Amino acid sequence: MKPLATIKNLSVSLGGRSILRGIDCELQRGKITALIGLNGAGKSTLLKALIREVPYQGAIEFHCGHDHSSHRPDHVGYVPQRLVLDERMPLTVLEFFALTLQRWPLFLGISQKVRERSQLMLSRVGAIHLLHRPVAKLSGGETQRVLLALALEPKPELLLLDEPAAGIDFVDQKPFYDLIAEINRQANITILLVSHELSVVSEVAHHVLCLNNGKIQCQGTPSEVLTDEAIKNTFGSGKRLYNHFHDGGAGCSDPSHSHGFWGHSHGW
Ligand SMILES: Nc1ncnc2c1ncn2[C@@H]1O[C@H](COP(=O)(O)OP(=O)(O)O)[C@@H](O)[C@H]1O
Ligand SMILES: [Mg+2]
Repeated sequence: MKPLATIKNLSVSLGGRSILRGIDCELQRGKITALIGLNGAGKSTLLKALIREVPYQGAIEFHCGHDHSSHRPDHVGYVPQRLVLDERMPLTVLEFFALTLQRWPLFLGISQKVRERSQLMLSRVGAIHLLHRPVAKLSGGETQRVLLALALEPKPELLLLDEPAAGIDFVDQKPFYDLIAEINRQANITILLVSHELSVVSEVAHHVLCLNNGKIQCQGTPSEVLTDEAIKNTFGSGKRLYNHFHDGGAGCSDPSHSHGFWGHSHGW
């Protein structure tokens, strides 16, 4: 099957500095590709090149649409590395969603349709209870779920997640990554995921790109890439792959536990 995107000899320079060089890789359709590498390696910049937020040389070829002939994805979902919201911002999650879902100003009120759509969006990420909570007062994990809900509407052909669990407590990370794996499986959305959690990467990713100092150092399946040797080369000798998920992992979760929120009957 054709990949969703093919990146050929991509280079990015910013402020006169070469940030990415000679990147060749593919985003496999319907799969989770993980992007790993030290801080400053260029991971966020690669995501920004994919959404054309930074200028680049080389080619990013998309094969989108139902017959894979479209050169642009209809929708790309993007959850940025960090979103700092002013704590005094009084908007609730519903109002925050309404700002993007409706065309008229918020002071004219929120329609029933927008309320229902907001509930549906939150239900996809198991967060319907957050509807009336002030968005600026959410915890790190709650904020990421809300941003994920927003990124999933309308259904994206490509979902870019830049360290989506960085602000989430260690114990809450597994459910969050389980959710990402479930979105990938049930909605068949191609995902590019930046993560430092190598154990998570080894469980949820189908393909791993390892970026080092602006270049792809290695790529392949998690078992090919996440060897002790390769991790040492990328992260130095202090980092090790260890498994803190002992109950089967996201890829093995029981489908009977799934939310079942995906598919045509749920607004996509
Ligand atoms: N707008 C910019 N101008 C100059 N340098 C930048 C800019 N954005 C990022 N960089 C630099 O590019 C390098 C890669 O950044 P980034 O892609 O954010 O890395 P990562 O996400 O892997 O931590 C860093 O050294 C960063 O300082
Ligand atoms: Mg980054």
